Amino acid sequence: QSDGLEIEAVLQSLGSSFDAPFGDTNRPNKQFYQMIEDFRETLEVFPLSPSDTVEAHRICVCVRKRPLNNKEVTKKEIDVVTIPGNGTLLVHEPKQKVDLTKYLDNQVFHFDYSFDESSTNDLVYRFTAKPLVQTIFDGGMATCFAYGQTGSGKTHTMGGDFSGKSQNSSKGIYALAAQDVFTLLKQRRYSSQDLCPYVTFFEIYNGKVFDLLNKKATLRVLEDEKQQVQVVGLQEMYVSCAEDVIKMIEMGSACRTSGQTSANANSSRSHAILQVILRRRNQLHGKFSLVDLAGNERGTDVSSNDRQTLAETAEINRSLLALKECIRSLGMDSQHIPFRMSKLTQVLRDSFIGENSRTCMIAMVSPGMASCDYTLNTLRYADRYTQTHEWIVSILLLIFSGNCFLCILFLQLKLALKNNLACEQNNLNSQETQYKVSVQ
Ligand SMILES: Nc1ncnc2c1ncn2[C@@H]1O[C@H](COP(=O)(O)OP(=O)(O)OP(=O)(O)O)[C@@H](O)[C@H]1O
Ligand SMILES: [Mg+2]
Repeated sequence: QSDGLEIEAVLQSLGSSFDAPFGDTNRPNKQFYQMIEDFRETLEVFPLSPSDTVEAHRICVCVRKRPLNNKEVTKKEIDVVTIPGNGTLLVHEPKQKVDLTKYLDNQVFHFDYSFDESSTNDLVYRFTAKPLVQTIFDGGMATCFAYGQTGSGKTHTMGGDFSGKSQNSSKGIYALAAQDVFTLLKQRRYSSQDLCPYVTFFEIYNGKVFDLLNKKATLRVLEDEKQQVQVVGLQEMYVSCAEDVIKMIEMGSACRTSGQTSANANSSRSHAILQVILRRRNQLHGKFSLVDLAGNERGTDVSSNDRQTLAETAEINRSLLALKECIRSLGMDSQHIPFRMSKLTQVLRDSFIGENSRTCMIAMVSPGMASCDYTLNTLRYADRYTQTHEWIVSILLLIFSGNCFLCILFLQLKLALKNNLACEQNNLNSQETQYKVSVQ
């Protein structure tokens, strides 16, 4: 009888573990669930606390895990992501050997900060966008991105907590950053500097730019001979307090293009960019761009596969790939940054370059077993971002330790790796192109 039960289990796992969502059957998931729980028992946890020191980074990469949502809980999905703290994140990828033995492939990722499912927007803000507010007062450009799979919590983090269907705009990174801008403006050292705050809020949908503060007027993006990009006609609204900004966030969010995906009933189908600009006598002093990207997704994630939705998906993926390319080129100090590859990178051009620019990327991940592939993709993307950062630090350490021979050896090794990465990226590009062609 026990053999019969085992055969039944094997059949169930064969029939469902790999095709259908993992959460649909109980038995194989229970086994994985237990394995993950046993693994977690062995981990030491160091949760991030608001009193921890915030380190200054020119490029900061963080990850945030959202809790399982009601739909996932009902489907008995298993949480395959663990955040033990200290910037570490683990993905317990469920796998099966050829002899059908189940095992976990535990993959470790390191970031500047990692936020677990109990983290609030306030805590995330404190370690990500808050340190960038100072940059715009120092005359620099700051950019904060929310990147990740559809339904992973980008809009929740940037725009504010959802309670049911309505969003509390005062609880998102947009509003928290605006509040801090006004707090600094009131300080004596800045109140005498004649700085005026303005806000713009626009979206990029299907390669076109729309003004969210001006009845979604279509805007043209032009580049002058000095490669300065202008969004022609974009309304810059003067704001006198944080409440003004919150009203604008509410107004703009209400008219942002949205749709439905398998992971999110209220999915953002566009990239939304809120900019807080400081001007002194009409001259640009500093700019903070807060970007809530559209979710990276596959054609199968969208509920309708009409021509328009498929074109939308292809365009979203194309611009996210362009962003990835630009960030990677910047990290490698490349001579050529491919800003013109998409509208998104074109309009953000001046936010990236320049000596006094700082960037923060918050990679959002969904914890469910069914999202495992996406989660790994998001993490690998963000992980590469930190790698470039780390090797510069390693070289500096070697130089300061006076070990020139090791330093040259290390540089040669890195050069070889860089060439390898470039080949890999070319492959990736051609794969993405194939995908786009098949979608169109
Ligand atoms: N940290 C969190 N805590 C509680 N609920 C969350 C959290 N993150 C996201 N959610 C919930 O998950 C749902 C999807 O989140 P959200 O709309 O922010 O996803 P998204 O990443 O913007 O997706 P898309 O790319 O489709 O726009 C929302 O109902 C939101 O309230
Ligand atoms: Mg969204």
